[in-house]
Amino acid sequence: DMKAERKQRENEWYENQVNRAQQVNQLTKLKKETVNETEKQYEYVFDQSHMIDYVPDIPEDEMKELENKIELEELIVQEEKRISSIEETKKSLPVFQFRDELLRSVGKYQVLIVVGETGSGKTTQLPQYLYEAGYGKHGKMIGCTQPRRVAAVSVAARVADEVGTRVGDKVGYSIRFDEKSSENTVIKYMTDGMLVREFLTDHDLAKYSVMIIDEAHERTLQTDILLGLFKNLLKKRPDFKLIISSATINAKKFSDYFDSAPIFNVPGRRYPVEIFYTQQPEANYLSAAIITVFQIHMSQKSSGDILVFLTGQDEIETMAENLAETCKKLEGQIKEMVICPIYANLPPEQQKRIFEPTPKNARKVVISTNIAETSLTIDGIVYVIDCGFVKENVYNATTGMESLEVLPCSKASADQRAGRAGRVGPGKCFRLYTKWVYLNDLPRNPTPEILRTDLTGVVLLMMTLGITDLVHFDFMDKPSTKTLVKALELLYALGALNERGELTNVGIKMAMFPTKPMLSKSLLASSELKCCDEVLSIVSMLEDTGSLFVNSKEKKEMAKNAHASFHSKIGGDHLTLLQIWDKFAESGFSPQWCHDNFLQYKVLQKARSVKKQLQRICRRLGLLSDGPHESEREPNTTALRVMKAITAGYFSQSARLSPRGDTYTTLSRKQPVLIHPSSTLHGAVPPVKLIVYHELVMTTKEFMRHVMPVQGKWLAEYGRNYFDKKDLL
Ligand code: CDP
Ligand code: MG
Repeated sequence: DMKAERKQRENEWYENQVNRAQQVNQLTKLKKETVNETEKQYEYVFDQSHMIDYVPDIPEDEMKELENKIELEELIVQEEKRISSIEETKKSLPVFQFRDELLRSVGKYQVLIVVGETGSGKTTQLPQYLYEAGYGKHGKMIGCTQPRRVAAVSVAARVADEVGTRVGDKVGYSIRFDEKSSENTVIKYMTDGMLVREFLTDHDLAKYSVMIIDEAHERTLQTDILLGLFKNLLKKRPDFKLIISSATINAKKFSDYFDSAPIFNVPGRRYPVEIFYTQQPEANYLSAAIITVFQIHMSQKSSGDILVFLTGQDEIETMAENLAETCKKLEGQIKEMVICPIYANLPPEQQKRIFEPTPKNARKVVISTNIAETSLTIDGIVYVIDCGFVKENVYNATTGMESLEVLPCSKASADQRAGRAGRVGPGKCFRLYTKWVYLNDLPRNPTPEILRTDLTGVVLLMMTLGITDLVHFDFMDKPSTKTLVKALELLYALGALNERGELTNVGIKMAMFPTKPMLSKSLLASSELKCCDEVLSIVSMLEDTGSLFVNSKEKKEMAKNAHASFHSKIGGDHLTLLQIWDKFAESGFSPQWCHDNFLQYKVLQKARSVKKQLQRICRRLGLLSDGPHESEREPNTTALRVMKAITAGYFSQSARLSPRGDTYTTLSRKQPVLIHPSSTLHGAVPPVKLIVYHELVMTTKEFMRHVMPVQGKWLAEYGRNYFDKKDLL
């Protein structure tokens, strides 16, 4: 109908052109007559070669309209160019040649495994083919899951563009705390986690005719859960189609899991990539990466963009800043460099930048987490720089402790990263480690997330879905019984399960929140403690929204003082966040205020939107009553109540100051831990004796991030089904 509309606009335009031409003709006639008069009267010789050009007067409003029409005409031409270039691009993708064969196979089999080189068009094209083939009819949708939020958003934008619709219209996406879809949506991209949650409200996924589990080789926790859930669903819905799409690793395993489902191979193209290793191990891969970027930029005459793999947002931002500064210093001496960071929390406007064509005479440097390994394909990459590391969850089932760690990536990842250099032509990959490390230190394959993460949240969700026998659930890789038992124990201690291991009302309510069970429990407790709004603010800021504090190099002292002004003496990092929130709200959510206080406006904006959504769930569950009475709003008791609510969820993550007063040990497992240097309680005098922490980060040691003082009696109260008596002594 887009085409029909265009055709109509075109017709209007041509009609108008014809009218105008007729008007001009009449004027010319008039002109000729006038000239004849003049000739007679003044006996001038009429010289045909000196005709005067007259311009008809066009009223201003008509003129405007005409201009609009011309603009429209240009737009139409542009749009046509765009469409034909999109068509061309679409046809040039490797999957295009297999379009009909793919659709035939989907029609024939209930489960199909599609395997193809990254960038062959699986993610962007498959849903469109299915749509064109009618899978979007009868009010049904075509779904496609992505392990990463950034990928879901950016692919939706791309496909909306290709289809010629706005995001949220025919093509939409759904990620945690952000959904853009409507009744019109037929192609929906979503994170795998969001689809798991959709099972909660729509057990049979009745809204979908077909689902693509994309990037299945990543084997995220949520993908593995989905595969298990679909195994059951397929029996119930014979009309339903499941497509599992994966890069070239491990396809056989998926086929085996789904009773020898057929594998459809999309042969890709790949140019040779020359690999380089460092001769010596590099102590600091970040500075090695920066040096390598400039080496490439200055020594390689030809164009070709650079893709750098690092492990996380902080590193990426540091490197981006550093490159920008150095470029400024070298201005005029080197070619222009377009620096594009990309990571999960990057705002969408900036995400788009990485796909923009590189200007002539410039070189694009994309600095990415392993997001660009398979989820995103950036055209034009010729050089890859690989730090050889990845940031991952690590879970110890014995201690029950989960932490984020930077670890060597797998050989499969390193090879995949290198492959990104060979998409447009022969490429080069610079590995910031030695060949020996590649051969001896890197594991062969990545470990599926389900084997290295805490399962509390997943177990709660599955119980809510009626899957109670987790030990016998058909997982692709079975998590250890120890991990499952740990999850059940914590759920029992949180009150989500009763002594018989059955789901309680508290558990059902907890599962309604898209947050970890411990956070959900804090929210539930805050309602009873009449401080729901406060805890909502804190929780929203704790949900990975990015780094809040701006560390200004020039105004170091000012930034430090501004941040210190929010410090809470009694409530540690959690109440500090609350103070920031309150002041932000008082300022009328002002960007200027954030700027003046060296805080990231974007992060607070995001927290605001997260808070609104959590608030909605709280309201639905009746947790947000009229709010406390004025008398109960006395600041100190509010602070204490907030701290109690946090403890209600986080008692299991508590630690006690060691007798020597320099380190902490966890209460339940007696593991050594330290307060993260970024905490307001770091180096407190005197040190706080008893604390709970939000998360652990492993660098040189296990650091607790976001720390709050607690009282022993709160731990005893909320952790009564968790701690042994001796733990609390
Ligand atoms: O899923 P697969 O790796 O097989 O390929 P894809 O993600 O569908 O990518 C197909 C093409 O679309 C590539 O050439 C990408 O560069 C391009 N693309 C893009 O330009 N912008 C996006 N946001 C996503 C893909
Ligand atoms: Mg893909």
